[in-house]
Amino acid sequence: MEHIKFEVDNYIASITLNRADKLNAMTPEMAESLVAKIQEFDRRQDVRVLVLTGTGEKAFCAGSDISELDTYGSPWEFRNRPDYCDAIRGARKPIICAINGYALGGGLEMAMSCDIRIAAEHARLGSPEVKLGWIGGGGMAFTLAHNAGTSNAAMMLMGGDHVGAQQALQWGLVSELHPASDLLRRAKEIAATIASRPPVAVETAKANLRAAFTMPFEMAVQYERDLQTVCFATEDANEGRAAFKERRPATFKGR
Ligand code: COA
Repeated sequence: MEHIKFEVDNYIASITLNRADKLNAMTPEMAESLVAKIQEFDRRQDVRVLVLTGTGEKAFCAGSDISELDTYGSPWEFRNRPDYCDAIRGARKPIICAINGYALGGGLEMAMSCDIRIAAEHARLGSPEVKLGWIGGGGMAFTLAHNAGTSNAAMMLMGGDHVGAQQALQWGLVSELHPASDLLRRAKEIAATIASRPPVAVETAKANLRAAFTMPFEMAVQYERDLQTVCFATEDANEGRAAFKERRPATFKGR
């Protein structure tokens, strides 16, 4: 059975963690495969956006497979494993996470590494590593603090208890909540909207948003202006303006 499923339909890729009996807990093999699939998604010309989710209604991902953590030869080998959060954050194209249940440990870091998160109403999010005697290593503290604030992040990081979907929405960890039965449809609807936009503009918007987190303000504004100029010079931007003037739908080609 494939534990990481990859499908493409009409410019939208889907990656599904497919190990429901173990709450989609991530083995080293799954992590390697996930990194490869994310790189494939980012490389392919026929794909513009990715929806990341899990099989079943119980879990998106319950984190690293705890029973496999002892199989690494040394802490340094563990340290240098292929990191799916790095791969997600490093993608040029947008990634939407549909949190269909538990998002714990590496599962939460994976979700927090995506550009947009929506969740099922029964989802539970948490950083339970502290209960096991360690902490996350895929951007947990940074992403929680940026999205939920330091006090809420501290409660999650130091207490390790899960928060419910409503709390996650209130803290800004997710953008929308939906009944489980409607979650994937809504994620694909958001994906379809993004896929209909000019791809160069979408990718530069993502690069610009990332820069806004890491660059000092003046530098970020200059970078934004350069990216705006890149977009302005594309065929798609000419098409966008022409279509507006001619009152017709635009056809974007990613050039
Ligand atoms: N690693 C390995 N196996 C896991 C797992 C993980 N992170 N999370 C769940 N599983 C497995 C369970 O061992 C169980 O397998 P089994 O049926 O062969 O015994 C199966 O998934 C179902 O989980 P279970 O614990 O029985 O479900 P539950 O509803 O009682 O509890 C959780 C759900 C999420 C609260 C609980 O599974 C849990 O706390 N998981 C660990 C989460 C964690 O600490 N993640 C961070 C890892 S670094």
